[in-house]
Parts: sequence; structure tokens; C-alpha cells
Amino acid sequence: MSDITYLPGKEPHEKEHRLIFKNVDRKGWDPKIKTYLAEGGYKMAKKALKMKPQGIIDEVKASGLRGRGGAGFPTGIKWGFIPPDNTKPVYLICNGDESEPGTFKDRYIVHQDPHQLIEGMVISAYAVGAHVAYIYIREEFPEAAIILEKAIADAKKNGFLGKDIQGSGFDLEIYVHRGAAAYICGEETGLIESLEGKRPYPRIKPPYFPAAIGLYMAPTIVNNVESLCHVVHILRMGGEEYVKLGTPRNSGTRIVCVSGDVKKPGYFEIEVGKVTFQELLYDMCGGPKDGRTLKAVIPGGSSSKILRCNETFKIGRGEDAEEMTFWQLPLDFDTLAAAGSMAGSGGVIVMDDTRRMSWILNNITHFYAHESCGQCTPCREGSTWMKKVSDRIEDGKATPSDVQVLEDIAYQIDGKTVCAFGEASAWPVEAMIDKFRDELVGETSDENDSRSAERIAQEQFVSSVQ
Ligand SMILES: Cc1cc2nc3c(=O)[nH]c(=O)nc-3n(C[C@H](O)[C@H](O)[C@H](O)COP(=O)(O)O)c2cc1C
Ligand code: SF4
Repeated sequence: MSDITYLPGKEPHEKEHRLIFKNVDRKGWDPKIKTYLAEGGYKMAKKALKMKPQGIIDEVKASGLRGRGGAGFPTGIKWGFIPPDNTKPVYLICNGDESEPGTFKDRYIVHQDPHQLIEGMVISAYAVGAHVAYIYIREEFPEAAIILEKAIADAKKNGFLGKDIQGSGFDLEIYVHRGAAAYICGEETGLIESLEGKRPYPRIKPPYFPAAIGLYMAPTIVNNVESLCHVVHILRMGGEEYVKLGTPRNSGTRIVCVSGDVKKPGYFEIEVGKVTFQELLYDMCGGPKDGRTLKAVIPGGSSSKILRCNETFKIGRGEDAEEMTFWQLPLDFDTLAAAGSMAGSGGVIVMDDTRRMSWILNNITHFYAHESCGQCTPCREGSTWMKKVSDRIEDGKATPSDVQVLEDIAYQIDGKTVCAFGEASAWPVEAMIDKFRDELVGETSDENDSRSAERIAQEQFVSSVQ
């Protein structure tokens, strides 16, 4: 990688390890197939087509790759869920909805290196036995859809898609499907409904686990853009080598997207679990803006639970448990789960001491109230109630008990909905109250109660004499 140079000011940080983003912001690089082929592109697809599908699945299992879309579910294991006695067509779907606030990685892959994704999809489709694949691309990425359509046409012209790919006898068509501009279209079963041309109401799991009952009720593998790109590198390196990157159970690299109150926000591809928050936010992102201190971080997209920068955590169990400050936490799936949050989609949102938590909370509750698909009552009603109560707090019209009301609503949503959007909307509220209760209560007043009672009494009086 030493002969690769990057655009001025876009050079990767020395703590980065670039696999997926190797060509992003690279000098002289463009998304044309000619450029990709000149660098050995599609060699792994050719290699894969000579392997047995199960051999590829085994490599992906050995790599320990965990999905980069949010849940961190092991990719190889998911692929293995397709029922062995299946007689229906199998579908592969690339989830390019990138709808989680704070996440901005997939768009760069698609814009700057679309053939890496297509190659990953050819290998993955062959492994799972799919002859039709879709890229569900966010409606708000119109340019990305055009880039992908061109890349697919070029891949087809060069014999990497279509009938009898590279003389292997394997056929694959990839179709680009523009999304419906809703957050819930990123949830895999909502996405599938949308792809079927319907309102994106998520399906209940069980029984609708897509690998068993997915698109058109047939087995369907849904993977994130970044996850599918990793498959190319797993095949190049071999699962055993790939698993050495990162840390045990948290292998490989992942792209984290840092936004908010740091001097140098941006995207960074890091080995999973090899970089701590101290390293990411200070060494790589330049620390807080002058004269400020960092207050809190949402580590994995807006639906993950907020962490205070002055917190300490017990990580691990029993005798192995280790006390760690927020700054010592490595960014991996298991550590962030043990810290009570999640690595999610890799969207790290940073807040400094100038941020009022009621404003942050209000921003988040507005988003989820707007994006609830409305299918189930706790989420549809609850997300709007959370917005209304947080409006009151933000507007200085709330009473201290409103904070408790807000917390109660969140717990009435959590675990009681059709899809994980319920948790996605409730967790940020629960965590914000847990971590910043005093600050939120400080924005309320007992006076508000009496003022509103007085107003009600006045209104009643006025209406009674009219
Ligand atoms: C509300 C909601 C929104 C989601 N949005 C996305 C998204 O934009 N992109 C994505 O890849 N996964 C998203 N997911 C996760 C997907 O449902 C699914 O787990 C993922 O695409 C699987 O890919 P992976 O195994 O490669 O991570 C979302 C999940 C939920 C609950
Ligand atoms: S939890 Fe929310 S987004 Fe998910 S199905 Fe229910 S109403 Fe829709």
C-alpha cells in the first residue's frame, strides 16, 4: 500500500488500517472499471467462482466477520441459515440505505469504489446460491444510484455479471432499487417490503427471519454495503489471516464516522478493538475545539446509548472484570455492549461542554417520532409522546416529573414492538435520562405546574362567562 498516495489533506491517519477505504480519496483513482481492473479488481470473484460455495462460506465464518450494518451479527453464520432443503430462489440484498444518523461510510464506498461492492456481491451471491441480487440504495443518494447502474453495466460488459460469469456457468443479475426515503427502509424486513413495492412495515421475527423467509417469501441474505466489501478481502487474505486483524471475536477493520465537536471529524478505517476513544477522539480527530472539554459520546449511531466522557465501566465478568474509563474503551462490539451501549453502525457523535442535553434529546426524539412507520402502537404513540415531553423540557415548560414521565414512556416502548426501531427510539432516551437526569431536571421547574394550572383556571373562567 506504500505506493498509494492520497489527495492533500485526505491522507489516512497512521492509526488507520485501510482495506475497504484503500481507494477512497486516493490520488489518480476513479470509479471506472478500467481503473479497478488495473489494480487486480475482480480477481477474487474469479477465484471464488472456481471454489465450492461452501468453501467461501467457511472462509467467511473463519474470518469472524460481523455485520457492519448495526447489529454486528456474524456474516458467515447468517449465510448458513438458508434452509438446506430450500427449493425456492435465493436472493441477496445489499443494504445501502445508510439511514442511521451519524453514519456516512457506505456512500463513499459506492461513490468512489463501486466495483469493490459489486465484486463482493458476486462472491457472496455465488456463496449463498443467489442468481438475482438487489442494491437498495437510499433515495437521498441519487448520484450513487447512477454510479452503481453504470458500474453494473460495465461489470456486465466485462463478463463479471450476467450469464455464465467468466465461463463458470454461474449467472447473476444485480438490480439497483432506489429507496423510499424513510429510516425504517434500512431495517431489513421493512426494506424487503419496500422492495416488494409495499409500505415498509417491518415483519415480525420469528417467523420472518430473511435468511429463511425473506423477499417474495424466499430465503434472502441482507448485508450492509461495508460487510459485502469485506468478503473480497477475506477471500484475498484467507479467513485465518483476516481474523488476525482486530481482536478476538471482533475481527477485521471497520469504518467509524466521527461527527460533532472535535477539531477534525471524518471517517477512519480502524482495526476493530485496536483503537480507544482517547486515540480516536484526541490523536485522530484532534481533540475538542479550543477552550472546550468533551462531555458525551453516542458511539454507534443515534440509536445507541450515550456515554459520558467522565464515566468508568466494569468490562468483563468475574475475576476477569476490568475497570475502564470511557477514554480507555476500545471501539469494538463486545466492549461497547459491556459498557451498556453498542458499536452499531460506527457513527460516533461527539458532544462538548457547550451542548445542552435537553437540546440533544429533543433533536433525537424529533427524528424518531418522524420516522416511526406507525405499524405498532407503543412505537407510533410512544415516539410522539417522547417528542412532546422533550419539547416541553426544551421549551422550559416542563415540570420535574416530566423527566420521569419521559423515562416511563421509553420503558413502555422498549421490547414491546414489532421491530428494533422501538429500542432504537427508546434507548437514547433511557440512557440520556440515566446519565444526565440532573441536568434535564434542572431545565424544568415546579413553577410550570402552578402556571399551567392558573392558565387552565383562567381559560375555564373566560369560557364560563362567554
Ligand atoms: C431501524 C433500523 C434501521 C436500520 N438501518 C440500516 C441501514 O441503514 N443500513 C444497514 O446496513 N443496516 C441497517 N439496519 C440493520 C438491518 O436491519 C440489517 O441488520 C443489516 O442490513 C444486516 O447487514 P449486516 O449483517 O451486514 O450488518 C437497520 C436496523 C434497524 C432496526
Ligand atoms: S417498532 Fe416502530 S418502526 Fe418498527 S414496526 Fe413498530 S411502529 Fe414500525
